[in-house]
Amino acid sequence: MSNTNPQRRVWRDIYVFDGLRTLPEPMAVITEGARVASLVSMREFDEKLVEGCHDMGRGGVMTPGLVDCHTHLVFGGSRADEFEARLEGVSYEEIARRGGGILRTVTATREASEDELFELAKPRLEAMIADGVTTVEIKSGYGLTVEDELKMLRVARRLGEALPVRVVTTLLGAHALPPEFKSDSDGYIDLVCQEMVPAAAKENLADAVDVFCEKIAFSVAQCERVFEAAEAHSLPIKAHAEQLSNLGGTAMAARHGALSADHIEFLDETGIAALRNAGSVAVILPGAFHTLRETQQPPIAALRAAGVPMAVATDANPGSSPLFMPSLMLNLACTLFRLTPQEALAGMTAHGATALGLKGEGRIHAGAMADLCVWDIDTPAALAYAVQPGRLRQRLFQGELTHAV
Ligand code: NIG
Ligand code: FE
Repeated sequence: MSNTNPQRRVWRDIYVFDGLRTLPEPMAVITEGARVASLVSMREFDEKLVEGCHDMGRGGVMTPGLVDCHTHLVFGGSRADEFEARLEGVSYEEIARRGGGILRTVTATREASEDELFELAKPRLEAMIADGVTTVEIKSGYGLTVEDELKMLRVARRLGEALPVRVVTTLLGAHALPPEFKSDSDGYIDLVCQEMVPAAAKENLADAVDVFCEKIAFSVAQCERVFEAAEAHSLPIKAHAEQLSNLGGTAMAARHGALSADHIEFLDETGIAALRNAGSVAVILPGAFHTLRETQQPPIAALRAAGVPMAVATDANPGSSPLFMPSLMLNLACTLFRLTPQEALAGMTAHGATALGLKGEGRIHAGAMADLCVWDIDTPAALAYAVQPGRLRQRLFQGELTHAV
């Protein structure tokens, strides 16, 4: 009979990226149940430490489970035809003005039942899990009625119950102006503030509230009203801001203590200072930049110089970023935006967690939750260097082994 304790596991000779940096020497990592029990360098390692531990192997790279802090994974329909139109020169804004874009997805999402949306989203999330994700944020924003927004959030919650991944939900009622409110944008914001936010809070369906602050969506003043409604229900806030133009939404969101400002290609020095002062995270979304063939770069060097933490996420959605592969974003963040591989990885672990209000998570240290990935690579930079599925050797979610090759 074996006297190993399946609740205690050990990895030997492994390089560890701890969520912020790569530890300088090969380590031994020990987990006990749902937690990391200890991290010791192989120089100080003593076999006595791990007597009875289940042997999880040697070599490779360990990272925290990936955190994708910005997705729109729940939706109906497809927008492949808009992809073709954009390639022919029609802009994202023009498609939206013609009633396509987000509103196309709204129609398809309203038509779909909760069960149908669940079945559509499940394989998308399973693919992310197979890519190493252990925490994912999912936004509403394609319902735009109280009932349809709650329906989307319920699907998101159900996904988190059905699959071995933590789902953090965000109400994005102020994503686009629904056709029923055409030319009554303020009336729609009233609905978001007076009905949607309270309903989502009451049913505990939203962990945060988001807005799309942009000329084709809502003004800074309208977004501020949504934030005030969120604050009245003690919900944290975040914003899609400065994606297509510089309206000052980021600075306003930061004044309200936003967890993050996302996209921010057009962010200026004032916005950067506001993020720094508020301790908000800048969420970089290279998938949308790539898909929309944007040319305006987010101000990475200035954010870095200001010490603003940068998260990296997929923005997975049917329009601006139909890219459901978090590890690809590590590569794009480096190639398109010149993040270092370490910055990109921190952006999808520790800083991604902070952008979700989970400060201190997405890290590996004694006592941390054992959300872990072990990769068949020899240096953490290799994760960003190559886009190569199949390198995930093991994945642990809250100490449970969910993937092993
Ligand atoms: O994050 N910017 C606004 N919202 C989404 C796009 C959603 C869509 O096109 O369906 C984004 O890019
Ligand atoms: Fe988005």
